[in-house]
Amino acid sequence: ISGEAHAAKIIFIAIKLNGVQRGLISEIISQFQCKGFKLVVIKIVVPSKDFPKKHYHDLKERPFFNGLCDFLSSGPIVAMVWEGEGVIKYGRKLIRATDPKKSKPGTIRGYLAIVLIILFPCKNIIHGSDRPETAKDEINLWFKPRELVSYSSNAEKWIY
Ligand code: TYD
Repeated sequence: ISGEAHAAKIIFIAIKLNGVQRGLISEIISQFQCKGFKLVVIKIVVPSKDFPKKHYHDLKERPFFNGLCDFLSSGPIVAMVWEGEGVIKYGRKLIRATDPKKSKPGTIRGYLAIVLIILFPCKNIIHGSDRPETAKDEINLWFKPRELVSYSSNAEKWIY
């Protein structure tokens, strides 16, 4: 993944273990797809014990870090790349607050999760990159270059 303009149009999204086990994959995909974003890549992975430490490296000083990493390596995760105009900004709005209790109804965490942030780690069912730079790093961490397919869909001519 390269190019500054393009980088702003892609986001890494992960459905965490509890989202997968509760059968929320299709609901979450729908939310992004119905808006008009394009699913570029998708796979199910069970991360190794150390892998989440790389993903959440900027949180390593936080008290919930170890619990969060254990949670992320304890079962299947759906890893995806979504593409579209404003996908990071809109995606973050759609996912909403870290604490589902503070997330508005209609947002993914507000609609689909009731976990409390005081229960470390906060198992809020979904992750989404917060900036183009983190999106790029996360996509390169979770996917090999050959997995990043490029295709055009006819829907693009109606949406963008
Ligand atoms: P962060 O990147 O701050 O939040 P977000 O996922 O909303 O972008 O934190 C990463 C994850 O760490 C978050 O999804 C859940 C967990 N976490 C806690 O368990 N407790 C906390 O107080 C915070 C800030 C995060």
